[in-house]
Amino acid sequence: MGFAAIILAAGESKRMKSFKNKVLHPLAGRPMLHYLVEELEKLSPDCIVIVVNEKTKESIQSSFKHSEKYHFVEQNSPLGTGHAALQARKILNNYKGKIGIFFGDTPFISHKTIQRSFLRMEEMQAFSLVVGFDTAFPVGYGRIVIENEYFLSRIIEERDATEQERQITLCNSGMMFFRNSDVFVILQNIQIHNCQKEYYLTDVIALLHDGGEKNAYIVADEKELLGVNTRVDLANMNDILQKRLREYWMLEGVTFEDPHSVYLSYDTKIGKDTIVGPFTYFGCGVHIEERVCIVGFCYFENSVIQKGSKVGPFVRMRAGVLVGQEVLVGNFVELKNTSVGEASKMAHFTYLGDSIVGKEVNIGAGVITCNYDGFQKQKTHIGDRAFVGTNVSLVAPVKIGNDSVIAAGSVITLDVGELDLAIARSKQMNKSQGALLWRDRKRIKKK
Ligand code: UD1
Ligand code: CA
Repeated sequence: MGFAAIILAAGESKRMKSFKNKVLHPLAGRPMLHYLVEELEKLSPDCIVIVVNEKTKESIQSSFKHSEKYHFVEQNSPLGTGHAALQARKILNNYKGKIGIFFGDTPFISHKTIQRSFLRMEEMQAFSLVVGFDTAFPVGYGRIVIENEYFLSRIIEERDATEQERQITLCNSGMMFFRNSDVFVILQNIQIHNCQKEYYLTDVIALLHDGGEKNAYIVADEKELLGVNTRVDLANMNDILQKRLREYWMLEGVTFEDPHSVYLSYDTKIGKDTIVGPFTYFGCGVHIEERVCIVGFCYFENSVIQKGSKVGPFVRMRAGVLVGQEVLVGNFVELKNTSVGEASKMAHFTYLGDSIVGKEVNIGAGVITCNYDGFQKQKTHIGDRAFVGTNVSLVAPVKIGNDSVIAAGSVITLDVGELDLAIARSKQMNKSQGALLWRDRKRIKKK
């Protein structure tokens, strides 16, 4: 028998103090909700119902690719987790398989814990199962009141707990499973009798218990069940994730000279024997191949750097960059929507945008592509083995032929042919003894 997942994401996220729904706040470049959904997908659920509110429905829905399996139902006012879960009834009313309820703000759940929950539920022949965790700092979490080694009798929210109940360290993760859609009947019976004036999902356990049903539980790892309520939690989760990502890549053969100062995205790919210096940021969509040396203090987004290249320090690659093999990209170089052919060099102070650079090209210090005319982005092509002197402005659209040379300081507005030498600057004039005259004039002026 399959299972259906209900994910609650309709809360107001008051503690985040944000215009954006909490579940869309990113961790390592990806909305936290997507971590949970990816994990659920590993178990091929029959359907996933995401409970959203009117204000953020559009943004949550559009963060996913369209799928028949995904349903977005609205909870019009945030009357609590119990009320939110009930909204999924429209979709799952006669569903015969198991129903899992998840919180969109708990991103590190593992599919293995879900599998373990199903096994335990069957073993105990329980109607429900709650995933709990034991923690030394239970502040903010609902506490699990156990009946005996196998079953629990209720969950009490911290706000409503007595001093004695607050001493309990076994907490509710929010993840719960039910035998089938009969749970909606119980959810409908939840009453408001708490200081938050909300319908608590957690009250379903006491109702089941009083009705003679069995509520099983398992205890899972605290790290897996941490929830995000504030930006402080978000930062802490991000720290955990960054550590995991760095460790993963180190075990794949990547050296981080100062791991703590490197920021990775969930989809960063790095080849073996690549060395990453300190203070480097990998935004989304970055693939660094093998044996690349990133000297440090660099910023990358949507870029590919091929084998054996050397990059940095202080390099910025914005979207759409492809750096070929054995390329040198030195300090204070910015690249955007540009490909650079094998063994080309740009050692310092350059901006190349919307450009195609051939092989073995030399780009001198201070070369700038003038790729924007105030209305449109224009392309620059630089042929193989071209030598572009220092401080050259390439006014796009422009084509620079193979093996050509461009004199330093030129402002290039016309195409340059193959093997041409282009000079586009005013001729130098030297006035003999002119320096003496110049100084005399300055002195007189100063008096
Ligand atoms: C909840 C649990 C608590 C548990 C903790 C684990 C309840 C009453 N409490 O508390 O026992 O220890 O999670 O992290 O269930 N939501 C809605 N609609 C609402 C209210 C909330 O969709 O009306 C969603 C939120 O978007 C969020 C999730 O439900 O994704 C949990 O809500 P939150 O307010 O964070 O609950 P906690 O106070 O953390
Ligand atoms: Ca929460």
